[in-house]
Amino acid sequence: MYFSLISLFLRLLYISQQVMLHSSINNCQSWLLTVCLDGSLPGYHFQKGFGSGSNNWLLHIEGGGWCNSIETCEIRKRTALGSSKYMDPLIPFDGILSHQSSQNPDFYNWNIVKMRYCDGASLAGHPESEFKNGTKLFFRGQLIWEAIMSELLSLGLSKAKQALLTGCSAGGLATLIHCDDFRAHLPKDATVKCLADAGFFLDEPDILGNRTMSNFYHDVVQLQGVAKSLHKNCITEMEPSKCIFPQQIIKNIRTPLFIVNPAYDFWQIQHVLVPAGSDPDGYWRRCRLSIQKCDSTQIENLQGFRSSLLKAVGKLQHDKEGGMFINSCFVHCQTWMAETWHSSNSPRINNKTIAESVGDWYFNRKVTKEIDCPYPCNPTCYHMDFTQPS
Ligand SMILES: *[C@@H]1O[C@H](CO)[C@@H](O)[C@H](O)[C@H]1NC(C)=O
Ligand SMILES: *[C@@H]1O[C@H](CO)[C@@H](O)[C@H](O)[C@H]1NC(C)=O
Ligand SMILES: *[C@@H]1O[C@H](CO)[C@@H](O)[C@H](O)[C@H]1NC(C)=O
Repeated sequence: MYFSLISLFLRLLYISQQVMLHSSINNCQSWLLTVCLDGSLPGYHFQKGFGSGSNNWLLHIEGGGWCNSIETCEIRKRTALGSSKYMDPLIPFDGILSHQSSQNPDFYNWNIVKMRYCDGASLAGHPESEFKNGTKLFFRGQLIWEAIMSELLSLGLSKAKQALLTGCSAGGLATLIHCDDFRAHLPKDATVKCLADAGFFLDEPDILGNRTMSNFYHDVVQLQGVAKSLHKNCITEMEPSKCIFPQQIIKNIRTPLFIVNPAYDFWQIQHVLVPAGSDPDGYWRRCRLSIQKCDSTQIENLQGFRSSLLKAVGKLQHDKEGGMFINSCFVHCQTWMAETWHSSNSPRINNKTIAESVGDWYFNRKVTKEIDCPYPCNPTCYHMDFTQPS
């Protein structure tokens, strides 16, 4: 479901320049051991910076859900999210990845990298957990993160003057998990910050009161040994699967952080608040596909979910170096497409696009803590409608 929804969104976009996949590089030992779920090599796309951006680096981590069982990982390893055998060698770089200043006013001339996501655990799996029940699945997300970082450092990232780690959805979560490690690899005098887009998954019960998301993350963490990539302070205090939730991760992040998240993230509505099994009577069938089809009781539920998000990001409200853009739209990722990142019909808060808000925060032009008024007040929103044929 998730993947088809995302590809639906993709079809709305125009294609700009295409960027090559690098994958059979570097023959050092650790790289050879670093593989996707199916044993194929991981990869990334790289577009070189120019002019005043030559020493600046933006790393974007691809998203695409998680696998929480042998069965779902077996399915995933036959897709581009589990194997580089299925990845398109050329992909478009739009929005925050774009080399056009009109689309991407602050980062267009930076070195831009898109790390492909092929481990199923937000680049945080560990090989000690492999080969359960005789299956051949590789859980090496943490090694993929380290190998690609080491390659990029040798390509010039180690001399970065300014850097931004970002990613969307499961890649937004990976951004939070690896943010301080990214910082630690770069020069002390460099400006280094992190931006998580639609990665703020909430530890909230679903509409039946079941802890669907919490149970799901519990299984991902168990299956792939993710605890080793989570903060020690947290895992000594509580169950590791709690520590993968952003509201816990941000308590320990020391690098300046910006959160872009819609208050009515459709992925979270469809998987956290109203997962498929929680609505046997179909009362939510239309509402979970289109916010415009929700009745007033359902909207009340969604407003409760929004309040939980605002509470969960509360720490960043008081953090001098933190920033946020929480708009009241029914969308998911918003940074890697031109339409939502920066265009004449982008969603805005206080008349600023996401690109302008992130730029103001990154370059310390303005304190940026943008929180939209509740749905349906913002006429600039782009609301997805999955009840319409595309
Ligand atoms: C391995 O098999 C056992 C017994 O069939 C089962 O209980 C367990 O959940 C399986 N482990 C995984 C990770 O699938
Ligand atoms: C979810 O909650 C309902 C009602 O409390 C319960 O009957 C059901 O078994 C729960 N489902 C799961 C998967 O835990
Ligand atoms: C909003 O910003 C645009 C430029 O991005 C400007 O042309 C317009 O006048 C602004 N509108 C308001 C109401 O300030």
